Amino acid sequence: MARTALITGASSGLGAEYARQLAARGTDLVLVARDRSALTALADRLVSRHRVEVEVLPADLLDHRQRQKVERRLGDAARPIDMLVNNAGFGLPLSFARNDIEDEVHHLRLHVEVPMRLTHAALGPMLARGGGRIVNIASVAGFIPRSTYGACKGWLISFSRWANTRYAARGVTTTAVCPGFTHTNFHERMGLPPGQEGLADWMWLDADDVVAQSLRDIARGKAVSVPSLRYKAIVALTRVLPAGLLASVGERGR
Ligand SMILES: NC(=O)c1ccc[n+]([C@@H]2O[C@H](COP(=O)([O-])OP(=O)(O)OC[C@H]3O[C@@H](n4cnc5c(N)ncnc54)[C@H](OP(=O)(O)O)[C@@H]3O)[C@@H](O)[C@H]2O)c1
Repeated sequence: MARTALITGASSGLGAEYARQLAARGTDLVLVARDRSALTALADRLVSRHRVEVEVLPADLLDHRQRQKVERRLGDAARPIDMLVNNAGFGLPLSFARNDIEDEVHHLRLHVEVPMRLTHAALGPMLARGGGRIVNIASVAGFIPRSTYGACKGWLISFSRWANTRYAARGVTTTAVCPGFTHTNFHERMGLPPGQEGLADWMWLDADDVVAQSLRDIARGKAVSVPSLRYKAIVALTRVLPAGLLASVGERGR
């Protein structure tokens, strides 16, 4: 596994879980998100528990200047980053026509532009060193019609498949991780109290399982990782279900 990983959206949910599991394997970390105090609290816990080095790099990735700090850190040849986890994200209501268009543009930028820019910043130094891991946290939503969220995650899956084919032979693998519904702060941040998402219990995954399974796929250099058998089966079904049925599946939950 990597010596040093940079994780975006590390203050909560899946990003914080990647930080915990990577630190437990002895990986040094650079933690990125807006909430400095949450990052510092996590860093303190990981340093004392696992004796790894943890750097806190607070940044709003939608702010040009703050994002450039992260790009510069990725390009710092003196302190190489072996793994980039593009994880930061947020959700919007599925009602595209009623959503504020500026919210939609921020959503598109955080889920597509930011991972593309950070991948570009990390890739050059990784190729020069002959190794590295790029990890893009996509979603099962990337396989079905699901407003702009599904479209953004579909972009990440397609980009990761291509990048993995293109650069794996030079030592840099790219993996799109595609979780189904996972217990994190994602849905609460959208204003949905727990249990109000309208989903059966079996549809929910735990962040620790998602991260553990995806880390195995990342280590194998897989282009696409779909954690859990139930969501692997759902993704397989998306290839054969009629478009109308898929569209109604895409309207479920939030
Ligand atoms: N939970 C699910 O059901 C699910 C399923 C499939 C895929 N995903 C994907 O998993 C990823 C992580 O989401 P999560 O479920 O762990 O949600 P979460 O608990 O809400 O975490 C989201 C993270 O993104 C960070 N973030 C948001 N806006 C940011 C910005 N402008 N700049 C920097 N960081 C920002 C947040 O930190 P700050 O607020 O501190 O900035 C937070 O650390 C997302 O890409 C999401 O689309 C989630």
